[in-house]
Amino acid sequence: MNSPKDVLRKNLKMVHGYPIVYSFANNWEKIEQFESRPDDIVIATYPKAGTTWVSEIVDMILNDGDVEKCKRDFITAKVPMLEMVLPGLRTSGLEQLEKNPSPRLVKTHLPVDLLPKSFWKNNCKIIYTARNAKDVAVSYYHFDLMNNLQPLPGSWEEYLEKFITGNVAYGSWFNHVKSWWKKKGEHPILFLHYEDMKENPKQEIKKIFQFLEKNLNDEILDKIIHHTSFEMMKENPLVNYTHLPSTVMDHSKSSFMRKGVAGDWKNYFTVAQNEKFDTIYKKEMSGTSLQFRTEI
Ligand code: A3P
Repeated sequence: MNSPKDVLRKNLKMVHGYPIVYSFANNWEKIEQFESRPDDIVIATYPKAGTTWVSEIVDMILNDGDVEKCKRDFITAKVPMLEMVLPGLRTSGLEQLEKNPSPRLVKTHLPVDLLPKSFWKNNCKIIYTARNAKDVAVSYYHFDLMNNLQPLPGSWEEYLEKFITGNVAYGSWFNHVKSWWKKKGEHPILFLHYEDMKENPKQEIKKIFQFLEKNLNDEILDKIIHHTSFEMMKENPLVNYTHLPSTVMDHSKSSFMRKGVAGDWKNYFTVAQNEKFDTIYKKEMSGTSLQFRTEI
């Protein structure tokens, strides 16, 4: 695999029982053996839950709300994705992480089972953001239309079926959110909800400040809320992913910063799809105390 062309629109590859993006799935030992630093801060999510949003918020917090400092580089360099590999094109997530100064921000979509052991051993702080399954499915469908590293999604109907059965990159949404929710009982994990952040960004950003043991003042907080609003991030070329070549992300198919709302699923789910989804959801989520809102 020497060129990006070799990895475009390939089928997912199984890694320890989880379907993973083809170009990320080789040399997995390097991911497993990743050596964390105790002050690494992990930003973990199932895809499309608001990873980029939380990443920029945390970078703003670490830089005391200094917008100029936050413009120092692209989000992919400031907050490298641990498992990201794009042959022949850019540095991998691991290479970028090696270069970054501490405290490093580490983005990942890995399920609990696949997170390198070193993060648990070093007791690294983890911020996990979850978003309701219906909006994630819609967002992920559009992402797979524009992201050529993913297999083609097919029709919305077909895609929804794949999503429900966990036949998408990183596997089942249900498994992901439930296992991260459970894990927070034994590890420093701040568990956030996308819908809460939309409804009350001030309150949720305060939680991140506290979790990171950073001093808070209202002026900084207001700056962060403004700089990380959907409208600002959509227009910010450092965070809206337009810096990647269109062979990888084709924004003419769908924008990375698409709508940024809670409840857009209502524009896509038919009544029948919604009923079926609700039935499966109830079964899958029966054994957990984790709750979601599908609108705000
Ligand atoms: P939509 O496709 O529903 O618009 P991730 O960063 O995990 O890939 O998530 C991407 C989703 O988060 C997209 O959802 C994107 O628009 C939304 N998003 C990104 N930045 C946001 C922000 N500042 N506020 C609200 N939503 C945001």
